[in-house]
Amino acid sequence: MTDATPIVRLTDVRLDRGGRTVLRDINLSVPRGQVIAVLGPSGSGKSTLLAALTGELAPAAGTVEVLGQVVPQAKRALLELRKGIGVLLQGNGLLTDLTAAENVALPLRAHTDLPAAVIARLVRMKLHAVGLRAAADAFPRELSGGMARRVALARALALDPPLMIYDEPLTGLDPIASGVVMDLVRRLNDTLGLTSIIVTHHVHETLPVADHAVVIANGAIVFSGSPAELETSTDPLVRQFLRGEPDGPIHFDAAPRFADSALTGNAPAGVI
Ligand SMILES: Nc1ncnc2c1ncn2[C@@H]1O[C@H](COP(=O)(O)OP(=O)(O)OP(=O)(O)O)[C@@H](O)[C@H]1O
Ligand SMILES: [Mg+2]
Repeated sequence: MTDATPIVRLTDVRLDRGGRTVLRDINLSVPRGQVIAVLGPSGSGKSTLLAALTGELAPAAGTVEVLGQVVPQAKRALLELRKGIGVLLQGNGLLTDLTAAENVALPLRAHTDLPAAVIARLVRMKLHAVGLRAAADAFPRELSGGMARRVALARALALDPPLMIYDEPLTGLDPIASGVVMDLVRRLNDTLGLTSIIVTHHVHETLPVADHAVVIANGAIVFSGSPAELETSTDPLVRQFLRGEPDGPIHFDAAPRFADSALTGNAPAGVI
């Protein structure tokens, strides 16, 4: 993989869940070093897109490449690739009976043979990176929502993955904690030389730290461009989403997508 190789590349991808098409005709290229915001209303397929990047969901058509390789199906190869992807899932996924430090140590214990003293040092460094060294011995219940989110972030960073993906990192956080988390995402991206994909419907908190924005709605990418271009887009779908209006061209019920998937059930010619 050269520096010019995109960190993530999706080519003519279709993703199905439970027998129906959630996303179709997805083409997306994420260059190294960028922070990309993937925006869209609830149920539009944001988490589904991330599942394709981690290999949890195989594409029904098209190609998904991550860190310079096609996402493999074989379990061992997939586990190897996943070590290079730091994931902050929707919700924190912190283990409640472990301290912050023990939570951050988990991936290091699971995936490396490092001695305990080295792991303890790395854990301190990761907690320091998210501004929480003093909270090492606290249990998740003793942390605020924003602090717990940052512990989860430190844990996602534990193995020094070149790619970070965040699924709704701001859920349940107030505007101040949201700002802290988003600034941290940007700062970690730049200081650690990462590439970051942020999936969210928190448009206004996320756009300021993003280099590129993608909006998905009605089963496809409806916008791809800079945050400034997004703010000035006149596309009715984009406007409806940005303003959070219930009425407009975005379908919020499952029925229209069901009909769509019947029409797009076959991959277009030329797609593997
Ligand atoms: N495991 C699954 N089996 C069947 N359908 C699923 C599955 N996971 C998601 N879906 C469907 O796929 C669609 C997209 O879901 P997805 O979770 O990707 O949306 P989202 O954009 O992440 O929404 P949110 O913002 O609420 O997290 C929804 O219609 C959902 O019902
Ligand atoms: Mg989701």
